[in-house]
Amino acid sequence: MAADSTAAIAVDPSVGAAADLVQRAPDGDALLNGVRLEQLLETDDGRIATPAYFYDLDAIAAEVRDIRSAFGAQRHLVAYAVKANSAGPIVRAVAGEGGGADVVSAAELKLVRMLGVAANGVVFSGVAKTDREIDLAIGDGASGILAIQAESIEEIPRIDARARALGRIARISFRVNPGIEADTHAYIATGHDEAKFGIPRAEIGSAVEAVAAAPNVQLVGVGNHIGSQLTVTDAYVGAVRMLIPVFAACETAMVQRGRPALEILDCGGGFGIDYGTAPVGSGRAERAADPGGTPRAQEEKSRVVRPAEFVRALISEVDRAGLSHTRVVVEPGRSIVGAHGVLCASVIMQKRARPNEAERRWLMIDAGMNDLIRPALYQALHRIEPLRKRDGESIATFRVVGPVCESSDDFGAHELPDPPPAHVVLRDAGAYGFTMASQYNGRALPTEVFLSGGKVVSTLRSADADAWVRSRVG
Ligand code: LLP
Repeated sequence: MAADSTAAIAVDPSVGAAADLVQRAPDGDALLNGVRLEQLLETDDGRIATPAYFYDLDAIAAEVRDIRSAFGAQRHLVAYAVKANSAGPIVRAVAGEGGGADVVSAAELKLVRMLGVAANGVVFSGVAKTDREIDLAIGDGASGILAIQAESIEEIPRIDARARALGRIARISFRVNPGIEADTHAYIATGHDEAKFGIPRAEIGSAVEAVAAAPNVQLVGVGNHIGSQLTVTDAYVGAVRMLIPVFAACETAMVQRGRPALEILDCGGGFGIDYGTAPVGSGRAERAADPGGTPRAQEEKSRVVRPAEFVRALISEVDRAGLSHTRVVVEPGRSIVGAHGVLCASVIMQKRARPNEAERRWLMIDAGMNDLIRPALYQALHRIEPLRKRDGESIATFRVVGPVCESSDDFGAHELPDPPPAHVVLRDAGAYGFTMASQYNGRALPTEVFLSGGKVVSTLRSADADAWVRSRVG
């Protein structure tokens, strides 16, 4: 690699909006962490093959700092939802800022513990934890992880039995289902009555009785998570207002039974990011089953409240309730990594067709729904831009599609230079991008490249197509 190819360079603020992740050098090259992405692809002797994710570790660390500083003097834990992006360099960056982790499997728990997250900085969510997973959480560290989030009353005697078998006390919290409709995509709303998640608020009394009958279980807190990609604070604050009296009632019930007071109030994650707006007339809203409404509704959703504002709104409720001594937990995933990762792809070819009078123009890229499934699964928008943008180029609207044999392998219509560029960047792909990738159609998993201080600091290569062949041959 040429020595200067990773040198951080000044950003031209006049190119692109200030909030643009894909900042541009004065000549129009896309930058991430001050690094020219196109140059990395060109100069690295082909070692960074597309499709590849690139992440800005410094910006990720800054997100954690920003959330933490919004807590002020309040005792807190930022339990990063590892499912959003479990890459080692990212979890290390979060842990380096004093962040903990929200995990949902034994593998995620083992991973974060290997990456420097303390056992008492981990919460474990999930509706169907196996005995093996419960054992791992109870047996970890000196007294187990911070909290196993019980998502049902039925889980409580199960956890008690495992704790007894291990000769330990299991620390649990109740994940309360508040029965609140979050204004988000149906697939990522979790706090409503029909969701499989959490213990319904009306049944918390029975959950308390279950703990009372479980000598090896200690109730350390209550929590909730109403959904993901929340763009306004209303429903979030509503859920906190519901949760605080539940906390108080559970604490009273425990103390009356001679059990310890509660320690944590876990208000979940869900802080949204700005995915921008689709180009006018791209037909996105018409195509999508439930994309969040009309183009106007999408536009309104793009005015996203920052995580720190969610935290400040939360803290004012906590203060009002006199719970300043309580450790407040949040579980952000997307808002920490989403905007600070991009997926770079090569353009394979274009295709024109005139099935009727209207001309169709497709741009085939080498990234597909197996690399980034969010557009196919949630009709999510990921803006696509050229890596190299030059003044005076003519622009055309292309339907950008991947190589996978599914009609849903379609990233939507995007305005791009015509003739098309060699490489494109799919923005805001840091969260739920690589972690949801698959090898469908015998494809490789994308490479991940981590940037910090204006240079590449590590690269992760997962199963390639040859590994897929070997694994299927058996
Ligand atoms: N805590 C719990 C209990 C969760 O279920 C989740 C996400 C989070 C925290 C983190 O939420 P976040 O801050 O990232 O919004 N694959 C979907 C998102 C699924 C979210 C699942 N639960 C997507 O790509 O939009």
